[in-house]
Amino acid sequence: MNHSLIPVIAIDGPSASGKGTVAALVAQRLGFHYLDSGSLYRLTALAASRAGVALDDEPQVAALAAGLPARFEAGRIRLAGGQGKDEDVTDAIRSEASSAGASKVAALPVVRAALLERQHAYRQAPGLVAEGRDMGSVVFPDARLKVFLTASAEARAERRYKQLMEKGMSANITSLLQDLQERDARDAARSVAPLQKCVDAELLETTQLSVEQAVQAVLGWYRQRLR
Ligand code: DC
Repeated sequence: MNHSLIPVIAIDGPSASGKGTVAALVAQRLGFHYLDSGSLYRLTALAASRAGVALDDEPQVAALAAGLPARFEAGRIRLAGGQGKDEDVTDAIRSEASSAGASKVAALPVVRAALLERQHAYRQAPGLVAEGRDMGSVVFPDARLKVFLTASAEARAERRYKQLMEKGMSANITSLLQDLQERDARDAARSVAPLQKCVDAELLETTQLSVEQAVQAVLGWYRQRLR
């Protein structure tokens, strides 16, 4: 099948907006493939640290990104190491260190270019839900539907707080809110793939919505486009 005929739904938004949860559920309901593009940046940062490559060594990090020995299987992510060993890194890539590393390598244009082909390969029938920063602007500009999903900083801080509590981790809502506001400002100001809503994206404000309502809104827009 001609790739450009395979529908893509691109979903972006600020951190802790719930875009990952909504994107995964939309993919499940439609029976579509799902691309969590942030995980590729997280994996690249982790692979670089493990290989002893400095995160600002653009050519070396890009070479790692291009050949990233990662496998996605049944909701788990595995990274091949030396001597044919591979390791489950599903939790390791969610650590604070991997988040910080991912945001560094994501600022390198050659690394972004190296990951482009890999992301295009996810476009498989019957369709793809792609989540992340430049999905609608750079990776899949011809997406059938683009959604910018957001919520107030307070609502996002509260959601993250609940998530951490459920995992048995301690958290402080005031410092979570401050972290989110600082990250938003940094994300919006960065020169490479800044956080911004595409002009042709639908805005989904989820402060007052449940996850299910947000999923239904995305599915509703998608159905409209099929008519
Ligand atoms: O969505 P996330 O927190 O897993 O993303 C990790 C980092 O990668 C974050 O700094 C944003 C960046 N990112 C990006 O620049 N482009 C993408 N398509 C996805 C993530």
